[in-house]
Amino acid sequence: MDELRTRYLGAIAGATDEAALERLRVAALGKKGEVSLRMRELGGMAPEERQVAGPVLNALKDEISGAIAAKKAALEDAALDARLKEEWLDVTLPARRRPHGCVHPVSQVTEEVTAILADMGFAVAEGPQIESDWYNFDALNIPDHHPARTEMDTFYMAQAKGDDRPPHVLRTHTSPVQIRAMQERGAPLRVICPGRVYRADYDQTHTPMFHQVEGLAIDRGISMANLKWVLEEFFSAFFGTTVKTRFRASHFPFTEPSAEVDIQCSWEGGTVKVGEGDGWLEVLGSGMVHPKVLEAGGIDSSRWQGFAFGIGIDRLAMLKYGIPDLRAFFDSDLRWLRHYGFAPLDVPTLHGGLQ
Ligand code: PHE
Repeated sequence: MDELRTRYLGAIAGATDEAALERLRVAALGKKGEVSLRMRELGGMAPEERQVAGPVLNALKDEISGAIAAKKAALEDAALDARLKEEWLDVTLPARRRPHGCVHPVSQVTEEVTAILADMGFAVAEGPQIESDWYNFDALNIPDHHPARTEMDTFYMAQAKGDDRPPHVLRTHTSPVQIRAMQERGAPLRVICPGRVYRADYDQTHTPMFHQVEGLAIDRGISMANLKWVLEEFFSAFFGTTVKTRFRASHFPFTEPSAEVDIQCSWEGGTVKVGEGDGWLEVLGSGMVHPKVLEAGGIDSSRWQGFAFGIGIDRLAMLKYGIPDLRAFFDSDLRWLRHYGFAPLDVPTLHGGLQ
């Protein structure tokens, strides 16, 4: 027994991993283990002998399993100590830089315009970019063969052979959303419709795809004075200063009377600056909604009036942020976007001064 005890306790003390401990446990206390075999022999002993050997064997069994458990815990502690020594974290190191995206000036300006006009009570409405001929032209009092159809450099959708319906178009302006909003919401109505529009045109200030925001207010007793107030209020909020505007009498089939609005700016050194110089940049078309347009939208023109305007969002972005070439807006050049883009968490608000 003494020999067993010394041998096992010695081996347990010298074990270097859990697998070795488990082998020792099986060798001593497993079914065919040395201690277990001795215990089985107890049955064949004389009672006096058993009375002496029984407790000694039991004590040996407890001692061995206790030693195994203690050694196991000690091995685990040592392993943890080794890991703690090896693995450590320098929390004073600077964090790794993570690349983050920028908000495109068009998105930023759309948000700014929306925030200002929403504050004046305009709700946002949307419409499809592929539009029917009726919504884009007819409903807006632009009949067939009207020069405005060709003036707008319309992109037409391909048509199946033998289909003699007028082809759909890529909408040339956001004005068709006026009609959709009137049909869906009725009068009184105050909506803005931001979105993409398309015209076959390309130079420093024109791209075949660009952005507009339409404004439409319909109520009783609305006049050009309301339109002028809203636009002037809009420009001073947007530019954060009083900006000289120029209302020029103009013509649109869907408004009567109509006015185009320009903003004072200079073009020196290839950059635009608002509020100085003797240049003007046209930024919007506007006017009183034509009675035929109200009727096309299902609104009784003898009871309701309205004003409408369509602003070029990209133009506004160029003016406010001094971006010289419109074409670069849509080149997807990341260097340009990092330069002119906005931090994603800089959400424009009126109380934050928008920018
Ligand atoms: N739809 C016109 C354009 O794209 C702008 C406009 C909108 C004019 C509303 C008057 C009223 O040029």
